[in-house]
Amino acid sequence: MSQDILNLWLHDEHVGEVERLRSGRPRLRFAAEARARWGDGARVLSYSLPLGPKRIDGPAIETYLENLLPEGALRAQLERQNGVRPGDAFGLLRHIGYECAGAVQLTPESAPPTGHLKPLPDDEVIGLVEDLPTLSAPEGEAITASLGGVQSKLLLTRTEAGWAWPAAGAPSTHIIKPEPIEPSAPIPRIVEFEHWSLELARAAGVPGAKSTLERFGDRLAIVVERYDRARGDRLHQEDFAQALGIRPLEKYESSYEEPGRLRRVAIGPGLESADPGLFRDALLRLVTFNLIIGNGDAHAKNYSLLLRDGLFSIAPAYDVAPVFYVNPRFSDFGMSVAGQRGLRHITLDHLMREAASWGMSEDGARTEIRNVATSVQSALVEVEVPEFVAPVAEQVRAAAARFAG
Ligand SMILES: Nc1ncnc2c1ncn2[C@@H]1O[C@H](COP(=O)(O)OP(=O)(O)O)[C@@H](O)[C@H]1O
Ligand SMILES: [Mg+2]
Repeated sequence: MSQDILNLWLHDEHVGEVERLRSGRPRLRFAAEARARWGDGARVLSYSLPLGPKRIDGPAIETYLENLLPEGALRAQLERQNGVRPGDAFGLLRHIGYECAGAVQLTPESAPPTGHLKPLPDDEVIGLVEDLPTLSAPEGEAITASLGGVQSKLLLTRTEAGWAWPAAGAPSTHIIKPEPIEPSAPIPRIVEFEHWSLELARAAGVPGAKSTLERFGDRLAIVVERYDRARGDRLHQEDFAQALGIRPLEKYESSYEEPGRLRRVAIGPGLESADPGLFRDALLRLVTFNLIIGNGDAHAKNYSLLLRDGLFSIAPAYDVAPVFYVNPRFSDFGMSVAGQRGLRHITLDHLMREAASWGMSEDGARTEIRNVATSVQSALVEVEVPEFVAPVAEQVRAAAARFAG
């Protein structure tokens, strides 16, 4: 087992290996079997990394690996726990690449990891959640899973017998994010807002991750079902940052990018989908929902694509919350909509122009936007609005009316 090779598995198949060069930089080589099976040019791993004979060393592979990892303080904590130099993505993935977003796994071993589930008594689960933001593993186990994002979270597997720890590459099924304990949290009750937003999305016909609110000892948490796991299988996904080759630190679009990121998705992976028209409709519906709900955190790592046999579709909504309506400081939409990123300024007209730039007809775009807006209006009646959410729901209602036109 070399210190400097990580095997790359996709759906348990060997698709390539990442080597750490003497310079410290990673280099990806696709496996001959994967190239023979899928053909050169196939984007089965990532839109930004088509299969091919050439070794890839440079920003494309560096950025892809960075985007598999947690960000900020979470990443720093995992680096410390594993004795990995800050910023060494390859080194950290050696420890935590066994379970990632989608169907990809990175391991130093030369056989695909199968892993095992370790049943967890309730008090142990409570302990793990209560420890957060300190990341810990049950006695005798290690953290071997990696997901993007900055909120501290726990990845567990729900079995008929209760929660289990997915060890050494066993698939997790749920993401548990407790309400942060920092007294200066910019959005108090964020997990409740997130749960309400996901319920609202689904009630409005916008596909969204399924969630519940659950108490673990003295911590309230949102428990989100992984849409990239199904009965023990992994479905592949990547976030927009991976698809477009954007580093995590650049996840918020800058004002002067041309073409804009949404357009790049619509005319990139969007054209490599089973039905590009439906892909654009789904993208527009999700963007419309995020605008209406005041999601001032809808950056390139909070949208994902599902990949199946080289064909792309829009993943369900996740990590959505009306942060702009709770704290107006969160006014950056994260993505440019016809050149505008400020949530105070993006209008129906911007959204129509953005959709036109993807090749959508005026009527088609109008229909999708209006449909989401009116569905949100009805969903606001159907979904229970907790008292503390009421002022926010009022702002959502007003935005829905604006986008309904
Ligand atoms: N329901 C889900 N199913 C599958 N993957 C998810 C789901 N929710 C989030 N993810 C993945 O996990 C990452 C982190 O989750 P997220 O809720 O965005 O955390 P954070 O609040 O820290 O940004 C996401 O960027 C996405 O890749
Ligand atoms: Mg996120």
